[in-house]
Amino acid sequence: MTNDKKEAILVVSFGTSHRETAEKTIGAVERDIRAKYPDKEVRRAYTSSMILKVLKKRDGVHIDNVPEALDRLLADGFTHLIIQPTHIIPGWEYEKLLRETEPYRARFSHLECSLPLLAGIRDHKEVCEAIVHQFPQLSSDEVLVLMGHGTSHPTDTIYAALDYRFKAMGNENIFMGTVEGYPSLEEVIPMVSQRSPKRVLLLPFMVVAGDHASNDMAGDDEDSWKSQFTAAGFSVTPILKGLAEFPEIRAIYLRHLEECLSEPRS
Ligand code: CO
Repeated sequence: MTNDKKEAILVVSFGTSHRETAEKTIGAVERDIRAKYPDKEVRRAYTSSMILKVLKKRDGVHIDNVPEALDRLLADGFTHLIIQPTHIIPGWEYEKLLRETEPYRARFSHLECSLPLLAGIRDHKEVCEAIVHQFPQLSSDEVLVLMGHGTSHPTDTIYAALDYRFKAMGNENIFMGTVEGYPSLEEVIPMVSQRSPKRVLLLPFMVVAGDHASNDMAGDDEDSWKSQFTAAGFSVTPILKGLAEFPEIRAIYLRHLEECLSEPRS
C-alpha cells in the first residue's frame, strides 16, 4: 500500500466570480500551500453552485465542486487527501463540506478535513493581530470598520467576539459589523459615531474582495456601507482587499493544514 501512496491537498473555497480577487486571495493560499508542500498535488474546488454556474456561462471556465474534485482525485489514483477550506468560520458552508466529504472517507486510505480560519481561540487572537498589523498608521481619530459576512448559524457570535477582542487589545477604533448577521451596520454606525472619527476605513472581513465588498461595502447604492457612513457625516475610504491577501492570514490556514497533516484528528 505504502508504495502506491499518492497525496493531495484539496483547497475548498466558497468561490468568487471576480477573477482578479480570486487569484490574489484563493490563488495566493493555493500558491503558499504548493510552495510548502511541493511533493503533494494541490487542487481547487468551489462550493457555491451559483458561482460555478456564472464562471461556466460567462467565462467558459469549469471549476470542480467538492464531489467532482473528490471523484477526479480518486480516478487519478490519489490515496491520501487533506481538505483545506478557506472558509472564515465553521458555519453552514463548512458543515456542508463535512457532509459532502463523509461518503468518500471509505474510498481514500486517508481523508481528513482541516479547519477554517476561525476555529479556536488562538485563531481569534492571530486574526485580530493580523488585522492590527495591517494598519500600523491607523490613528486614534480614524476608525476601521470590518465588514464580515454574518450568518444564521450559531457561529455568528464569532463576529461580536472579535469586535470585543480588538477593544480588549487596545484597539478601541476597530469595529466589526456583518452583512447578514450580528452586529449589523445599524448597530455599528451609532457606536462609531460616538468616537466622532475624522475618517472611516472600510475593509471586507471576507476571504475575497468580491460581490459583497464591491457592492454592499463600497458600492454607490444608498444602502451600501460607504453611502451609509457618508450619510452619517463621515469621510469614508473603502479598501477593496480580501483577507487572504494578507500573508499573516494565509499563515493561519497553513498552520491548520500543517496541524492536520502532522496529527490527524480522527
Ligand atoms: Co453572501
